[in-house]
Amino acid sequence: MCGIVGYIGDEQAAPILIKGLEKLKYRGYDSAGVCTNDGEKFIVEKEKGKIEVLQKYTDDGKNIAGNAGIGHTRWATHGEPSKINAHPHLSQSESFAVVHNGIIENYMELKQELSEKGIVFCSSTDTEVIAQLLEYYDNGDLLDTVTKIMPLMKGSYALGIMYKEKPDEIIAVRKGSPLIIGIGENENYLASDVPAILDKTRKIYRLDNEEIAVIKRDSITVYDAEKNVVEKPVETIEWSMDAAEKDGYEHFMLKEIMEQPKAVHNTIAERIRDGRIVLDEIKLTPEQIRNFDKINIVACGSAYHVGVVAKYIFEKLLRKPVEVDVASEFKYRDPIINEKTLTIVISQSGETADTKEAMQEAQKKGSYAVAIVNVVGSAIAVGADDVIYTLAGPEIAVATTKAYSAQLAVIYMMAIYFGDILGKISEQDYKNYVSELLALPEKIQLILDKTEDIKNTASKLFARKDVFFIGRNIDYALSLEGSLKLKEISYIHSEAYAAGELKHGTISLIEDGTLVIALSTYDDLGEKLQSNIKEVQSRGAYVLGIGCEGRESLKKCTKSVIFIPKTCDIMLPSLAVVPMQILAYYMARFKGCEIDTPRNLAKSVTVE
Ligand code: G6P
Repeated sequence: MCGIVGYIGDEQAAPILIKGLEKLKYRGYDSAGVCTNDGEKFIVEKEKGKIEVLQKYTDDGKNIAGNAGIGHTRWATHGEPSKINAHPHLSQSESFAVVHNGIIENYMELKQELSEKGIVFCSSTDTEVIAQLLEYYDNGDLLDTVTKIMPLMKGSYALGIMYKEKPDEIIAVRKGSPLIIGIGENENYLASDVPAILDKTRKIYRLDNEEIAVIKRDSITVYDAEKNVVEKPVETIEWSMDAAEKDGYEHFMLKEIMEQPKAVHNTIAERIRDGRIVLDEIKLTPEQIRNFDKINIVACGSAYHVGVVAKYIFEKLLRKPVEVDVASEFKYRDPIINEKTLTIVISQSGETADTKEAMQEAQKKGSYAVAIVNVVGSAIAVGADDVIYTLAGPEIAVATTKAYSAQLAVIYMMAIYFGDILGKISEQDYKNYVSELLALPEKIQLILDKTEDIKNTASKLFARKDVFFIGRNIDYALSLEGSLKLKEISYIHSEAYAAGELKHGTISLIEDGTLVIALSTYDDLGEKLQSNIKEVQSRGAYVLGIGCEGRESLKKCTKSVIFIPKTCDIMLPSLAVVPMQILAYYMARFKGCEIDTPRNLAKSVTVE
């Protein structure tokens, strides 16, 4: 949420900053700005709207002088998206410039105190308070000033700070929100996320909480909050720039949909050895697994939907109760969990504030937390008791696809692995599950090969105003994701309903031409679902079915059907989600929507 970039070196800073921001626009895109120091003063340029507006206005940054600067792309929290509220923010007499990710929770209080001292604010943001605090406490020693204001601010922050008197340095500091420092040759960088600087350097330092980096052209020194120097390990980013580029696709989302066979393959390949699932990256012992009497899953958005699928799978295979919570609700309902509860936390970014807080709450209550995370070294990965990484590669499109699929793959592996330890899975079933798991990438590819047909279906449906996704059991869990995918990128109103529940109220919304997408992959409840299809059809609904090859009866009660290959029950979501992603993508595209950066959304949501 919000993107930060910084540069100090011999080159003109602004073009580098703006290029970096372009790579980060998935983190927020309602306004963007840069601030450079030309040796005498700050030059600030910011614009409301996407980065393209700033690019045009500044000729890609070429008309902004200075060899050091900071930039920001914003996802508004405090104050509407506007030029005034865009970052960077300056202090009253323009001695400090600040870019910020996160939220200063006590900013009203701080603003009040500073206003009483005569300081005049010009924006509605919490960030401006930071710039004003720096100026108020300024004693000429930048590092010292920063450490003085840190304890005054409650909440989370990743900051890029410039001080007019010291044009040769940038300060980076974080608490909660992520921040990395890129190491170059006679030039150094600052960024909230790797893609911003990946075409410049692969060597980075990851700042830990409450660490402060003083970044100069030829040196980087990291301090803790007590101003002690901290030795940081240099991390080398292994993935290439191509992984963060569109690679000929019109959108990242389509590229990432197409990458799913690889994402799933990479996630499972190393973990299946000689026909056995090996999760040797976790410290959780078989004894601990046997002792858990409950599983608790917390996540947000699509990751939460993976959790709902997981509930069906774990309960079926392990016969242990599973609770799934939206992370933002979990913490505040005083959940009944203890050391006999296993908590599973799911997050692509590993930085989602709600999920992180929920995990900490569970750990506080004595629960052991295993995190399923895509971004290596992220806060959730570091804070969990164990982490299982999805190896989906960097995901850029705001609407997740390949990370969702990779998370499902980890859930299957955990379920089979735990089921085996608990003695709930026969040797034959174990073998079948493993062979189906290994076949998933190929079966996903078979669906991707039908993209043109699904696109054709989308061309007939994209003008619908309301869509209902229905399913039973694991199909219901999956319908949640199908519906979210469609609404988040196409802005078409859609809802997911347990098919049997529709008749208890919502069926009143079905009228002539309402699109109903009926998921009927789960064979055991196929007949029952067909009855629900008939109920909506007789009220005028246009029904599109998604079912496994061989379920010919589905053709009789729907307008059209997308068939997917067969697999074992628990792995059906991995296949059925793919046509829904493609459908959502093309419906949005036919409507002329933005797709990779849908309105009001951000990929990594680091505020509560
Ligand atoms: C945001 C994104 C969603 C994502 C959710 C959880 O809301 O827009 O696509 O599912 O955060 O993100 P995480 O990184 O924790 O999986």
